[in-house]
Amino acid sequence: MTAQLNPRGDVAVLVPAAGAGVRLGPGRPKALRLLAGEPLLVHAVRRLAAAASVHTIVVAAPIAEVAAVRDLLAPIAPVTVVPGGAERQESVAAALAAVPVGPDIVLVHDAARALTPPALVESVAAAVRSGHDAVIPVLPVVDTIKEVDADELVLGTVDRRALRAVQTPQGFRRSVLAAAHAAAGDALTDDAGLVEKQGVPVFCVPGSDHALKITRPFDLALAEHLLATDLRTRTLDS
Ligand code: C5P
Repeated sequence: MTAQLNPRGDVAVLVPAAGAGVRLGPGRPKALRLLAGEPLLVHAVRRLAAAASVHTIVVAAPIAEVAAVRDLLAPIAPVTVVPGGAERQESVAAALAAVPVGPDIVLVHDAARALTPPALVESVAAAVRSGHDAVIPVLPVVDTIKEVDADELVLGTVDRRALRAVQTPQGFRRSVLAAAHAAAGDALTDDAGLVEKQGVPVFCVPGSDHALKITRPFDLALAEHLLATDLRTRTLDS
């Protein structure tokens, strides 16, 4: 059954899903790799569509897969699918251009964070709604972090108390994200980086362990385990 998005919602979610995912090993584009029998993108979109504030979802798919991704997502939720670009930033820009008039909050969410709970989508959106122009979900860094040189010699130890690991969805006032993309130069790995360059303060909210980025084969195995456990607890869908 297709999940209906909320026509009165104020949130558009952009899902860059056009990457190759070489770190997962050879195979299909990463967003289409299977997790518990379904593509990562299906898991991600299902949870986005379950967040009550979401009005629109725009997916940037690999150019060769646009039609296949439309067919794949049609039973899950009403989603707009556009061709992605060579860089993540281009894929986000293509998705942003397809957002209809209406939603004032735009979230950018990696398809690779397939188990992100709807509650995290809502908490990022709520922080933007409350007045923060840019919001990122973060986790504390648990490992000791060293800075090294090109020969793997340690240059120093970074104070981890001041560090945060950044997840998605990242949330923005729509006009702020549009201005940052219009002014964008070098490709960055996240959208908050673009608005930081514009001098916009970026606010952190608590992230979720379940929003892990599925990048390497180990992450896929962990995500399979989390899903199997969740059959009992159902925490991933709320
Ligand atoms: O490569 P990385 O894991 O950083 O990609 C993060 C997200 O950006 C993934 O969901 C990937 O599909 C997406 N991406 C994209 N277009 C690209 C490269 C990456 O949509 N050209």
